[in-house]
Formats: sequence, C-alpha cells, structure tokens
Amino acid sequence: MSDRIATTGSAPPVRLDNLSAGFADRGVLRQLTLEGPAGRVLAIIGPSGCGKSTVLRCINRLHELDEGAFVTGDVAIGPFSAYAPSTDVIALRRRVGMVFQRPTPFVTRSVFDNVAAGVLAQRRSVPPSELEGLVEVALQRAGLWREVVDRLFGSAMVLSGGQQQRLCIARALAVQPDVLLLDEPTASLDPMGTQRIEELLYDLRDTVTVIMVTHNMQQAARISDITAFLLNGRLVECAATRELFTTPTDPRTEAYITGRFG
Ligand SMILES: Nc1ncnc2c1ncn2[C@@H]1O[C@H](COP(=O)(O)OP(=O)(O)OP(=O)(O)O)[C@@H](O)[C@H]1O
Ligand SMILES: [Mg+2]
Repeated sequence: MSDRIATTGSAPPVRLDNLSAGFADRGVLRQLTLEGPAGRVLAIIGPSGCGKSTVLRCINRLHELDEGAFVTGDVAIGPFSAYAPSTDVIALRRRVGMVFQRPTPFVTRSVFDNVAAGVLAQRRSVPPSELEGLVEVALQRAGLWREVVDRLFGSAMVLSGGQQQRLCIARALAVQPDVLLLDEPTASLDPMGTQRIEELLYDLRDTVTVIMVTHNMQQAARISDITAFLLNGRLVECAATRELFTTPTDPRTEAYITGRFG
C-alpha cells in the first residue's frame, strides 16, 4: 500500500482495517474492519458513547491530537494509508472534509470568505475571478447559492442554522475533498433544514465518498447505501442499508433499530 495521500480525482473507498483507538488505558474502538464504498453514503449508527465520533476522528487523524489518545490498525483512503509513518497528515485532512453537529462558520468572515477559505486552503494563490467562480460552484453544490447570492459579503452569522450548516458543507466542498465526514450534521436543524442537507448528501453521490454519523435511523434509511451499527466500540453489523433495517442478522441490531435500547 502506498503511503502518499494524493488527489485521486474520483471518490475512493474508505476502509477501516482492524482499527482500535482510545485514551490511555481506556479502549473506545475495538478492532473495527469496515468499508465505506467509493462514492456512496455510509451511515454509522449506535447508542451514545459507542464511538461513532471517534471513528470519524480516526479517519482524518484528529483523534490523535487529544491527550493520551492512541490508534492502532489503519485507515485506507483508496490505495493510500492514512497511518503510514510518512503520510502527510495535512494533505490527508484536505482530502477528507469534516462537518460537525453544530454549524461552525468563521464568525468574523463573510459568506464569501467562509467558502473562499476552503478554496485557499487547497491553493494558496487564486486569481480573484477564478476564486469567485469556485466559491459559486461550492455554494451551488451545497444548495445555498440562490439564498445568499445577494448577501455574499455580509456576515455569515446572520444566516439561519440550516443555512450555516450548508455554508460549512460548501466550505468543506470548496477544498474538493474525496471524502466527506459528517457528525450528526442535522442534529440542530428543523425538518426543512434537515431535508435540504439530506438532498444535498444524496446529490454528492459518485463524486464524494460520504461517511455520516446519525442518531436518526429514518435518516440513515433515507440516504445511506450501507449502514454500520456500533456497540461499545465494536462493529455489530454492517450491511446494505435496506437489508440492515429490514432483516438484521444480529439480535442486538434488531433491538436497537426497533428502539428497545439506546
Ligand atoms: N478526550 C477524551 N478522553 C477520554 N475519553 C473520551 C474522550 N473523548 C471521548 N471519550 C470517550 O470515548 C467514548 C466514545 O466517544 P464518542 O464521542 O466517539 O461517542 P459517540 O458514539 O460519538 O457518542 P454520541 O452519540 O453521544 O456523540 C465515550 O465513552 C467518551 O466518553
Ligand atoms: Mg458523537
């Protein structure tokens, strides 16, 4: 396996390979092996504290930044190893965008500058006319363009929560990632805001590999191709979403999806 994270130009599969992680002597993830297929949506479900966010944070190597954190095993982004000793972690994080539960726009910047920051993270110097075009494309892809076109240079903070979340997705997309990680991206949104994000994630198919943590099982059922159920840091079951929700093979999966615990 190569250890260089390069632009692949197409969405790669993301494979967790015997991945374990935790803090000091406390294990959180235990020997996870699991694949998010290329250009598809993988949903990760499971009760609070089972390690869902930790999985995402291992994929883009944020987990190791916490005190006492450890990781063993590997994550492969297409043919590239995220944890090979010579991997360029900054380049890896560019290839793997992340969106959090609460919108995290840059508060002092305009709508335009929030998205431009994504473009400029990818390329230091971009001619102004090209930058304008790239910002527009990212806002279009995030389904936000029409709502902000007349206030591009106003503060991002006056946008609604759902608009701010789509702005964060636009910023992540502006970096042209191969993989997009989303940690409960609609948890703070109303049904309309949620629907917009779901449609957007659905539309990203083929161009980006999406891995999304959600507590909302209807949401996982609506937009994901594959669903993984985690319990106490272990993978209980990973299957085509329709299969997992209709004919789960493990009784713990069935108990969880029918609301008997968690
Ligand atoms: N910095 C830390 N130090 C020690 N333990 C931590 C730290 N961060 C998280 N944990 C623990 O790791 C476990 C997994 O946390 P994680 O955030 O991945 O769970 P989660 O499945 O995303 O939960 P939720 O659904 O509530 O967001 C939890 O038991 C949590 O308490
Ligand atoms: Mg979490």
